[in-house]
Amino acid sequence: MAAMSAVVDLSVDGDIGVLTINSPPVNALSAAVRDGLAAGVAAAVADPAVKAIVLHCAGRTFIAGADISEFGGAMKGASLPAVQAAMEDCPKPIIAAIHGTALGGGLEVALTCHYRVAVPSAKLGLPEVKLGLLPGAGGTQRLPRLVGPEQALKMVTSGTPISAKAALASGLIDEIAPEDGLLEAAKAFARRPNLALVKVRDKQDKVEAARATAPEMFAQFRKDNARAMRGFEAPEANIKCIEAAVNLSFDEGMKVERDLFVPLMMGLQSKAQRYVFFAERQANKVEGLPADAAPLTIGSVGIIGAGTMGGGIAMNFLNAGVPVTIVEMKQEALDRGVATIRKNYENTAAKGRMTAADVEARMGLLTPTLDMEELSAADLVIEAVFETMEIKRDVFGKLDRIAKPGAILASNTSYLNVDEIADVTSRPGSVLGLHFFSPANVMRLLEVVRGAKTEPAVLATAMATAKKIGKVAVVAGVCHGFIGNRMLSSRQAEAMKLIVEGATPEQVDRVLYDFGWPMGPFQMSDLAGLDIGWSAEKSKGETIRDRLCEAGLRGQKNGRGFYDYDAQRNRTPSPVATQIILDYAAEKGVNRREVGDEEILERCLYPMVNEGALILAEGMAQRASDIDIVWINGYGWPVYRGGPMFWADSVGLAKVAERLTHYGYEVAPLLARLAAEEKSFTGQF
Ligand code: 3HC
Ligand code: NAI
Repeated sequence: MAAMSAVVDLSVDGDIGVLTINSPPVNALSAAVRDGLAAGVAAAVADPAVKAIVLHCAGRTFIAGADISEFGGAMKGASLPAVQAAMEDCPKPIIAAIHGTALGGGLEVALTCHYRVAVPSAKLGLPEVKLGLLPGAGGTQRLPRLVGPEQALKMVTSGTPISAKAALASGLIDEIAPEDGLLEAAKAFARRPNLALVKVRDKQDKVEAARATAPEMFAQFRKDNARAMRGFEAPEANIKCIEAAVNLSFDEGMKVERDLFVPLMMGLQSKAQRYVFFAERQANKVEGLPADAAPLTIGSVGIIGAGTMGGGIAMNFLNAGVPVTIVEMKQEALDRGVATIRKNYENTAAKGRMTAADVEARMGLLTPTLDMEELSAADLVIEAVFETMEIKRDVFGKLDRIAKPGAILASNTSYLNVDEIADVTSRPGSVLGLHFFSPANVMRLLEVVRGAKTEPAVLATAMATAKKIGKVAVVAGVCHGFIGNRMLSSRQAEAMKLIVEGATPEQVDRVLYDFGWPMGPFQMSDLAGLDIGWSAEKSKGETIRDRLCEAGLRGQKNGRGFYDYDAQRNRTPSPVATQIILDYAAEKGVNRREVGDEEILERCLYPMVNEGALILAEGMAQRASDIDIVWINGYGWPVYRGGPMFWADSVGLAKVAERLTHYGYEVAPLLARLAAEEKSFTGQF
């Protein structure tokens, strides 16, 4: 037995050399791992006792990819292609033994092994596209040779890994091993007599078979996925590589892959997406939380209010197998809420993404009731009733008397002061905000609002619970609208000013759509409903919104808003809304003018950045990257632009500050200081 390096070990079991990578947390291909692998393969080749080699990993997973933290820095150690060439050309068969995830460079290493064996729970994929990249170590050329171009195309453009079962069916792996007998199964495979030295690069049948019909297949694929890929550079580069695999020789295809990889790696989109990868993981870490702030156990959840949000929130927990008791005031509202949850599940089942038994299992975990007393055993209760302080305080007062000691009491409020809600209870330390985003069963963001008295263990539990239900949690302080809605207000206010000054809602929406948003502010208002938070009694016709609502415009729900909608939801600018805007402008004495696209973009986005700077300076967000995570996961900020703070950094803070001043804004002190010092919010520029 010989230790090749601190992270790669070679041991010999009879005639099999076992190379073990041990580089926590995910055995990423750092310089040390690459060097260790190169030395390990050389040593196994040199050892006459070794007839075949098994490559496997210690810890939770097979190699999870290149070491992303090394990207952008100077290259050290053996190059990955050199290590792969040594493996592929190795005169002794190498068998990859895969558990956990074989992703990116990890799968690309496995593709240079002669055989692949995996446990049933393993996942295999090329997720580079999610980092704004393409698989740069031969993945785009070898994968289609094993699984065929059509499946390879799906895998590289979606980045979604496939299961071991699917991998076996498509030819990506050679055998499925027992869950707890991977190494033994891989060794047994290695001992098979007359194992040929199969090189994936030499396999031609699947790519050749696809060649005749390939042009139509690629054209169709581009058409079908145009919307999902809009704005991103990496998916098209990935498609081009698969095309090369079909149409060119292996070596020519490798050249295409390399030529397309480099500009992506150097580009701003990948820089943004790599930043987001780490930012998302960092968001879950709460600064200053004592290590003994052990999460409490959440075995059951109560939800108050079965409206738009309550039902969606419930689904998150039902999906995670946590029983939910949901409370309403009236039977009708309760029935409606439960029926909506069921309908959502049934729709998912109809699309084949869930079985009928799954639907029943989830509904079986749900207890609907009109009696709040039934929340006495819940470990966590989330309130999602109307957005009114008096109602929320009333609910929390009752809840305080009912909930068991130690239960966590959370509000889903969008704007209200969580401390004022906490103060009606006898246990403000157990109270916090859990601000889900609509639709709550879909949107990944959860703002965890830390009250003045929220105890560390309660906060830690909220963060752990968020992870358990698949949310990206960001800690926010108590302020009006927290991080997301507070910044949104500044954008919406500016968008309204722009349409009074002369831009049209359609123009504003187009500019923001072209920037990469899924929709613009006026489409969003129409979708949310123009009458959210509006009341006919209190309306005095003072704002454009008041006047739209008074004229019966409600948005998409009644087909009339800033746009008119037909039955297919196609939209055309509303003449009624247009007239209301023109009248309003005339009344205010505004000289309408043509507003340029650049002005629209700057005036919608820079004030958000300014607000973000205030939020940061006030300590309402822990770090600039948390703000970016909020915007990407809660509002559809295009991930390839890295979020508002990263984007502002990429534009240059001096320019942002100068334009804000130009438009009459007071520049936030933090932004002004960073601009003057030529620094950035995120430290990325
Ligand atoms: N490089 C560097 N660090 C990585 C990493 C990678 N490829 N993958 C994960 N990590 C780190 C995370 O930052 C995290 O660090 P932290 O504990 O300090 O926050 C730690 O490993 C654990 O990661 P997760 O919290 O994400 O753990 P999970 O168990 O939830 O998920 C995983 C594990 C599925 C492997 C997930 O981390 C993942 O998807 N990783 C990225 C995989 C990937 O994108 N690979 C492709 C890289 S690009 C490439 O290979 C280019 C090649 O073609 C040349
Ligand atoms: P909703 O009006 O759809 O649902 C509220 C439900 O609470 C109603 O069904 C009502 O009958 C019920 N309710 C009221 N008082 C109750 C009581 N005392 N006991 C039991 N049930 C009671 O409202 P929605 O949209 O679900 O909003 C709920 C909360 O979530 C609000 O605080 C809102 O600000 C917040 N929120 C809303 C978002 C949205 O997009 N709709 C997004 C994020 C947060």
